[in-house]
This record gives sequence, C-alpha cells and structure tokens, in this order.
Amino acid sequence: MLPDHFTPVPLDKSYRLLNHGPTVIVSAQHAGERNAMSAAWACALDFAPPKISVVLDKATRTRALVEGSSLFAVQLPTVPQAALTVGIGTDSAVTEPHKLVKHGVQLFDAPGLAVPLVAGCAAWLVCKLIPEPHNQQSYDLFIAEVVAAWADERVFRNGHWEFGSAPAELRTLHYVAGGQFFAIGESVLVK
Ligand SMILES: Cc1cc2nc3c(=O)[nH]c(=O)nc-3n(C[C@H](O)[C@H](O)[C@H](O)COP(=O)(O)O)c2cc1C
Repeated sequence: MLPDHFTPVPLDKSYRLLNHGPTVIVSAQHAGERNAMSAAWACALDFAPPKISVVLDKATRTRALVEGSSLFAVQLPTVPQAALTVGIGTDSAVTEPHKLVKHGVQLFDAPGLAVPLVAGCAAWLVCKLIPEPHNQQSYDLFIAEVVAAWADERVFRNGHWEFGSAPAELRTLHYVAGGQFFAIGESVLVK
C-alpha cells in the first residue's frame, strides 16, 4: 500500500529533489533480495532526461543488487530517520542479513517498478542504471537516468520544496561525519 501524501513529481522537476545536497538512502532488489544503504555522495547530473550520480562502494550488498537489476531508488530520509540512516549505513547485509528489520526500515513497492522504496522519506527517485563499467570499477561511480519520482506533497509540491511550511519532521538530513547531520535550515531567496 502506498503511503499517505505520496504524490508524483514531473521528471523535469525531479532534479530539484536532489539539488540541495541531502543524504540519501539507496534501495534495490534482485533475485528476490531487497536491501538499502545510506549514501552521502549522491548528486544531480542533468536536467533532461534527468540523471544522477551516486557512489556505491564495492563492499556494499546494495551495489550487487544494483548491478544485478540495473534499477535502484534514491530517497531522502527525514530527521526522525537519522538513527535509521546511520544504522543501515553502518550495518551491511553481507554480515547482517536482517539489518532492515533491525533498524526499523519499512519498504513498499514503487508503483509499476520492481524496486522497493523506504517509507517515511521526503522524496523518492527511481533510477535506471546507465552502464559505465570504467567509472563503476575505477571510482565506484554509478550514473543513472531518473525514470520516476515522487515526493511527500506536504514538503515538495508544484516543483518546489516547502520546508518552511511543512511539518518539521519532514526536514531532510545532510551528513557531515561521525554520526552528525544537519537538518535543512531556512530558505534564502535571491531574486
Ligand atoms: C551517512 C552515511 C553516508 C554514507 N555514504 C556512502 C556513500 O555515499 N557511498 C557508499 O558506498 N557508502 C556510504 N556509506 C556507507 C554504506 O551505507 C555502508 O557501507 C552500508 O553498510 C552498506 O550496506 P549494504 O552492504 O547492506 O548495502 C554511508 C554511510 C553513512 C552512515
């Protein structure tokens, strides 16, 4: 079942979901296995068609699922999910197969796409891998086209983030190091 407030985002606006540099959770499934990991190194890459990049270390189980299915989701966790984000970014499914349950991750299916999404996030982008074996092998750098996107309509609507009026718990997380994040702050508008 889809969560409340789960609303589509036009693909020409989907880059805005990443433009402010949030920490993300990467999720994927392949051959009946589902997993998710945290990633600070995700970035918007192009407008049309929208593309992103994300760094997926060779040691991660999630990377193997991405390589197997060529499909993954990038989603933006919120302030109440800070501990979850550290948890699934510290434990690996390689050694902790039940890490998602351990850290309270609830998955739901992306509408019409074979990829799991993490409930409670502010926005979700489903991405199709653009194979670049050299980048992947040399830099752990994965490039993908965004093929679908959704956001929680309370915090992103009409192509804009509405952090000022949205519930505070929908603020996104921005990772520093050592378990420390900043929650996104005030809007600064230059006209
Ligand atoms: C906040 C945070 C950000 C992280 N960013 C990245 C990243 O950008 N790329 C990466 O490969 N690993 C990153 N990690 C580490 C992975 O999330 C970690 O290796 C995870 O255990 C992999 O899980 P898996 O093996 O179950 O896929 C990050 C961890 C945390 C806590």
